[in-house]
Amino acid sequence: MTVSLETIATLAQKRGFVYQASEIYGGLRSAWDYGPLGVELLRNVREAWWQAMVSTRDDIVGLDSSVILAPQVWVASGHLASFTDPLVECTSCNNRFRLDKLTDSEVCPNCGKRGTFTEPKQFNLMLKTFLGPVEDAGAVAYLRPETAQGIFVNFANVVRTARMKPPFGIAQIGKAFRNEITPGQFVFRTREFEQGELEFFCPPAEAPKWHEYWLQERLRWYVDLGMKPGNLRLRAHEADELSHYSAATSDVEYQFPWGWDELEGIANRTDFDLRSHAEHSGVDLRYFDQDLGERYFPYVIEPSAGITRSAFAFLIDAYDEEEVRGEKRVVLRLHPRLAPIKVAVLPLSKKDELMAVSGEVAATLRAHWPVEHDITQSIGRRYRRQDEIGTPFAVTVDFDTLQDRAVTIRERDTMEQIRVPIAGLVETLQEKFAGKL
Ligand code: GAP
Repeated sequence: MTVSLETIATLAQKRGFVYQASEIYGGLRSAWDYGPLGVELLRNVREAWWQAMVSTRDDIVGLDSSVILAPQVWVASGHLASFTDPLVECTSCNNRFRLDKLTDSEVCPNCGKRGTFTEPKQFNLMLKTFLGPVEDAGAVAYLRPETAQGIFVNFANVVRTARMKPPFGIAQIGKAFRNEITPGQFVFRTREFEQGELEFFCPPAEAPKWHEYWLQERLRWYVDLGMKPGNLRLRAHEADELSHYSAATSDVEYQFPWGWDELEGIANRTDFDLRSHAEHSGVDLRYFDQDLGERYFPYVIEPSAGITRSAFAFLIDAYDEEEVRGEKRVVLRLHPRLAPIKVAVLPLSKKDELMAVSGEVAATLRAHWPVEHDITQSIGRRYRRQDEIGTPFAVTVDFDTLQDRAVTIRERDTMEQIRVPIAGLVETLQEKFAGKL
């Protein structure tokens, strides 16, 4: 089903996935905070990315570089000169827009006036700050607009200390910052966001092969985590869309409520970055191939994913509604690996005897999975809440439990219920989760 942006944003805020940043001060339009469920979802997306890109591979190592880099990095990378968007201002209402994102370049989407735009100006997206107590030109620094440059400037360190040989990759997850002209569509485009980036270094002649390899790998990653294949596609960039460093880029696109839009970019960055950093720093960043007895600049294939953006897409994709006994049921069919809570334990009533048993059951399960011991409201409302936050299993403790020491497991997707002894509960759930976590 297609969910509207408003519906998913309302659910995310109502259930504590996402809060408006600085809400008590009226909120900051371009920033969002992740609540108790959102933070778990983000952690799960991050963990799934790291596992696929680093932990399960012997040709990729990880890195965690700083957010603030030497200002010369952004000169060498080309960001200071070229990381810009075309900005126009409506002379009637003074709102500013990205020219390339306007549906009609003549009509202001805010006030509806025609022909009121100024000539486009190139606006640099890097967020500027000052290091140290003096705010002068010598103290200017930038928050990184991509995590990638922290990898390039550490290329020689990693080759030396981790003894890596192309083809190999360096991966990192971290925050990036862009002074976006038009943040929006809820958490889709924000000024502060998280990326998962891999820089995969290979001999130049192998770059096309590895580019194709990473396109397929990355597409598969989303599908393996439950995203519907029909909502995903690859789209190659036209020549005039390419970033200043790219010889070829394809985006993984997702069918968002407003249409196809970028989820991840996978670029062939050639040797642009290493060559440029070598020129600007004076440090030889060529790789020495002992077998060939020669030095060369490896080419780089870069799958660059948005952690925050893909978490949002997973939420959208998981949203489902169905009619159950004449009532609407909203359910997030999240892949169990991504679900913030894996098992909910629900005592049928707040009677002490039941609460004591359900508390014990929850404690036992918590040793294995993130568990919520949900004791508020009616059982119907609690099932509804767990469906809406995507909890794969609910375990109900009822009055019969006190006699038969058995509980009911309810599956989120099918609503099927089975009765199992408490003694075998962990084993049964382990079987149900097998291969999915
Ligand atoms: N190092 C290459 C690079 O940064 P990009 O296409 O500009 O490429 C990669 O960004 C990914 O980062 C995007 O596909 C998107 O998922 C995420 N991203 C970029 N800008 C974003 C923003 N303002 N808000 C949220 N995510 C963003």
